[in-house]
Amino acid sequence: MAQQKSFSSNLGAIMAAVGSAVGLGNIWRFPYICGKYGGGAFLAVYLCFVFLLGSVLMMSEFVIGRRAQHTPVKAFQTLYPKNKAWGLVGLLGIVTSFFILSQYLVISGWTTGYVWNSVSGALAALGTDSAAISAFFIQFSTSPWTPVLFLAIFAVIVLIVILGGVQKGIENVSKVLMPVLVVLVLVLCVRSLTLPGAGKGVEYLFSPDFSKLTGEGVLAALGQALFSLSVGMGVMLVYGSYIPVKDNIFKTAMWITVCDTLIAILAGVAIFPAVFSCGFEPTGGPGLVFLVLPNVFNTMGAAGVVFASLFFLLLMVAAITSAISLLEALTAWFCEHTGARRWAGALLFFVVTTALGVVFSLSMGSLSHIKITGLTLFDFVDKMNSIYLPPLCALGTIIFFGWVMPEEDIKDEMSNHGTLRIGYYGLFRFLARYVAPLALLVVLVTGIIS
Ligand code: PHE
Repeated sequence: MAQQKSFSSNLGAIMAAVGSAVGLGNIWRFPYICGKYGGGAFLAVYLCFVFLLGSVLMMSEFVIGRRAQHTPVKAFQTLYPKNKAWGLVGLLGIVTSFFILSQYLVISGWTTGYVWNSVSGALAALGTDSAAISAFFIQFSTSPWTPVLFLAIFAVIVLIVILGGVQKGIENVSKVLMPVLVVLVLVLCVRSLTLPGAGKGVEYLFSPDFSKLTGEGVLAALGQALFSLSVGMGVMLVYGSYIPVKDNIFKTAMWITVCDTLIAILAGVAIFPAVFSCGFEPTGGPGLVFLVLPNVFNTMGAAGVVFASLFFLLLMVAAITSAISLLEALTAWFCEHTGARRWAGALLFFVVTTALGVVFSLSMGSLSHIKITGLTLFDFVDKMNSIYLPPLCALGTIIFFGWVMPEEDIKDEMSNHGTLRIGYYGLFRFLARYVAPLALLVVLVTGIIS
């Protein structure tokens, strides 16, 4: 089938997909859970999940997308026309992308706000008074308008890139931003590692402590592997449909997996040695990025302003290319189904996800009385997005891939119509048919029970 839209080259495809994979998950989530669940011990488990399951899921999404040349729902229906209900797996991916983007926009908005607060010196002015830094964050994140303003600024940037198109927008922007991201993270690593007492942070991150690697830690590793590689939401399926037909899907997926993992590890090296060197305790999530790190930067005097600005810029760059991939998946799906123009689809989802993002943002302040199952709207959607929706969609995808889709199609697509050798295929097929579905089932059931 003729390729309607595609990246211009293998490098472009890899950059765009790495852009999707490297995001908030790498920089503020991975380092923390790695340290929390036993450093090197967690890392070993995580690497197994990433390479044995995550990359297999990514390849399966790439194969489905490129083979079908359609967006999530139609892709499943095209590859197995006998039962159109498989399209529901695609729909689940779209729903997941929708909620993830809405939530992602909130944190990205805060990040954008903190780029501004670092550059303007507002953060530095707080000094090393932890109480003042935390009051500042609470004031910032719960005030009715400031986070909304920054959220909107961030969303407009994402919209502009999507309007630029697959090659001129997504691909070109990723080719610029990814190298920038690598430079930023390396600069921060050097700074962090050369601080006195940095060794303790390195130890926290890497020295294996198997006593801390609980069952919960193993599940966290699997959840993080899916989230970090952007699989289980239809995004990689859409990007797969843009991979040029002559590209090697296996190699492409491996490059993306390696880059994503390296950047997560580098982010840990940029963060923890500095945290320990300055005498702070590591925490996770918003607490780490918005409370502990500003304090760390403020102990560095004037240079702290520079490093704080670079750090929040790094986080923003990572978030932009991830948000782009989510908005692209939604836009491409919508336009395929309705025949709407690209700008109209992008604008629609920009407006709706931004509006929902604003509601989630307000749920931490003026709307905090609204609760679902005892959780604020933000916490509720956070739980859905991390524990339930992606593993469920990933499970549906991998069952379709391993048990429903004709195997000849898979082999033909992975070997580029018999022109590439696929020596890995036996192991790959085994992982896709047995190991991945089982592992995902365990995660889902455990998630539901707990
Ligand atoms: N992989 C991104 C991260 O690590 C998150 C993401 C998930 C982006 C799904 C796109 C799609 O932050």
